[in-house]
Amino acid sequence: LIEAGVSKVVVGAIDPDVRVAGSGMVRLRAAGIEVLGPVDQCVVEASDPGYFHHRRTGRSRIVHKAALTLDGQIAAADGTSQWITSAAAREDAHELRAAMDAVMVGAGTLIADDPRLDVRLEGYAGPQPRAVVVAGSRPLPAHARIWDRDPLVLAPGPIASLGEVVVVPGHAGAVDLAAALRATADRGLLDVMVEGGSVLAAGLWEEGLVDAGVWYVAAMVGGGVGRAVFDRPFATLSSARRVDIIDVTRLGTDLRIDWVPSSG
Ligand SMILES: NC(=O)c1ccc[n+]([C@@H]2O[C@H](COP(=O)([O-])OP(=O)(O)OC[C@H]3O[C@@H](n4cnc5c(N)ncnc54)[C@H](OP(=O)(O)O)[C@@H]3O)[C@@H](O)[C@H]2O)c1
Repeated sequence: LIEAGVSKVVVGAIDPDVRVAGSGMVRLRAAGIEVLGPVDQCVVEASDPGYFHHRRTGRSRIVHKAALTLDGQIAAADGTSQWITSAAAREDAHELRAAMDAVMVGAGTLIADDPRLDVRLEGYAGPQPRAVVVAGSRPLPAHARIWDRDPLVLAPGPIASLGEVVVVPGHAGAVDLAAALRATADRGLLDVMVEGGSVLAAGLWEEGLVDAGVWYVAAMVGGGVGRAVFDRPFATLSSARRVDIIDVTRLGTDLRIDWVPSSG
């Protein structure tokens, strides 16, 4: 810009990356260029949230997606969950996948549902999100649809797998989830959607690693105790955390609720 002889620059947002962090503005001003801004940090950050989150934390940004019944269950007691939400909600979720670098599930979901974790929209020809599995102690199934998709497997130790394996040992034979999200970010997977199940979601929630939620609430009542969104005890009300509901959208018969954890 200096070489081009620009006279005035309007800056949308400051990049928090320590290698820049506003230093470009200082240089422009030193060269006699009028510099205004940042004029809309929030809007710019919202246009590329994974990038800004990664620059601040070194980790992938996690959007937790879930499909739940009106009484808050992601599956029945026997593990069946297909399909809780309507076709309209599921199509919307595919559009969401198209905006992600990766879609992540736990081994339990891989075993129970054999998901493909890809974007299946009529006429869609854009990039596909990487499939990511968090493995535990059980061997992963030899036959699963994601093996055709060059998946990334995050495991607590060496594991036989048809995908690329990253070993991220944590406590008690579990994957260290914060380290796992640094490993995914290192591979360029900045916006990651976690699609369950409840064990993986509970681990991420417990460690404060859920950065946003998109929950599809179906016009369906389970009418009993099935599987909760998070597989952990909700012991007392003071352990609950507030969230800010950003948006509520009607999708056919269902609702989509977008939220972020409240700050402070
Ligand atoms: N409605 C929805 O939105 C939705 C979405 C997804 C799934 N589901 C349903 O949820 C059920 C599956 O849920 P789930 O809770 O069993 O499965 P999950 O969270 O997908 O997977 C749990 C397993 O993944 C591994 N794992 C997770 N976190 C780990 C960590 N930090 N370190 C190491 N291993 C970790 C462990 O495997 P090991 O046991 O091998 O140690 C763990 O038992 C199915 O019924 C499925 O249909 C519903």
